[in-house]
Amino acid sequence: MSTQPQTQTIIDVEEQYQVATYKKFPFVVERGEDVWVYTSAGERYLDLYGGHAVVSTGHSHPRVVRAISDQAARLIFYSNLVYNDTRARAAKKLVEVAHPLHRKAFFCNSGTEANENALKVARKLTGRDKVISFEGSFHGRTPGSLAATGLSKYREGISPMLAGHTYAPFDDIAAIESLIDGDTAAVILEPIQSMGGARLGSPEFYRALRELCDRADAMLIYDEVQTGFGRTGDYFFAGRYDVVPDMVTLAKGIASGVPMGAVLMTEEIAGEIKVSDLGTTFGGGPLACAALEATIDVIRDERLLDNVRANSEYLYAELGKLPAVEELRGLGYLVGIKFKGDSARPYQQALLGRKIITGLADDASVLRLLPPLTLKRAEIDLFLSELATMQF
Ligand SMILES: Cc1ncc(COP(=O)(O)O)c(C=O)c1O
Repeated sequence: MSTQPQTQTIIDVEEQYQVATYKKFPFVVERGEDVWVYTSAGERYLDLYGGHAVVSTGHSHPRVVRAISDQAARLIFYSNLVYNDTRARAAKKLVEVAHPLHRKAFFCNSGTEANENALKVARKLTGRDKVISFEGSFHGRTPGSLAATGLSKYREGISPMLAGHTYAPFDDIAAIESLIDGDTAAVILEPIQSMGGARLGSPEFYRALRELCDRADAMLIYDEVQTGFGRTGDYFFAGRYDVVPDMVTLAKGIASGVPMGAVLMTEEIAGEIKVSDLGTTFGGGPLACAALEATIDVIRDERLLDNVRANSEYLYAELGKLPAVEELRGLGYLVGIKFKGDSARPYQQALLGRKIITGLADDASVLRLLPPLTLKRAEIDLFLSELATMQF
């Protein structure tokens, strides 16, 4: 019996009732397990896009599922108006895996919200309104994060933008030197520009940012919505090259797919934030906190940081041997494969035909892989063997 009519019905209903804001893959995902998703047509796809860089511990990890189910049966929600045992454990565990200077967490619900809050804190505490971000960056779709987003296509047609925002070329120390001044509240960056094509800066760039922010008394904010929680092979980019930002924003993988965001900050900054300065009804809800706690436990017990380091090294080495590949970018499991020629899209489409999900980037020649941190060598080999047969 064919399952196609059922698939088409689901697609038609979504198209009819949901605002068309995404160009979707032409299949219906019904179930996921680790690095695999299963469709209504009975097909299995290797998910090298990790449910959009989200399912850090793999799809529906049994420990995450159990943590959420147990929590849901006990208490789905109460806000920050009350104390809660799960929230207490989650906050402690999050701070324990963070850089030692990041002693406090503010919980919210998404990446854009985390960035909004970090920018708001920087503006409020410095009393300044200038924010420097970078061309090619993506920070979210709500006004503050959008204004910080350097990829101009996301800002098109919306004016006025929030005032005070300016954009520097990425990895350009001189540009920051000329822009930063006594009006600057913050410099915000994705340490690796993901949507911008998995671009990593030079060590000197991050060090210079820290120094220039210190000199100007401005805050340095790392948007680690993608680089955080193990994707680079370390828990955070913060601390790399001995550069520690004042705040780190998180979302995507931190709760394995349960919506959650967070801002990590120094004790000093947290000490200046007063009751009612920040808030969100759902932030730090017990269900999300249960998922966060389970995610941290799984990353520790399954040694996923080691897994990312070892297997990404293998992946980059093997990709480097393929004649179609011009350049490899990124770090760990934030992988950018720049192909010879103008477009990575034919590769993405051909891989999809072979039942492998990958992503594109704003740089059209780059294919992005943002797999679960659980991705192992056997699945990497499967991907490599398919890719090796392609040249466009
Ligand atoms: C680096 C970065 N920051 C912020 C965001 C916004 O996160 P969210 O979609 O959860 O609002 C994203 C989303 O893709 C992102 O990649």
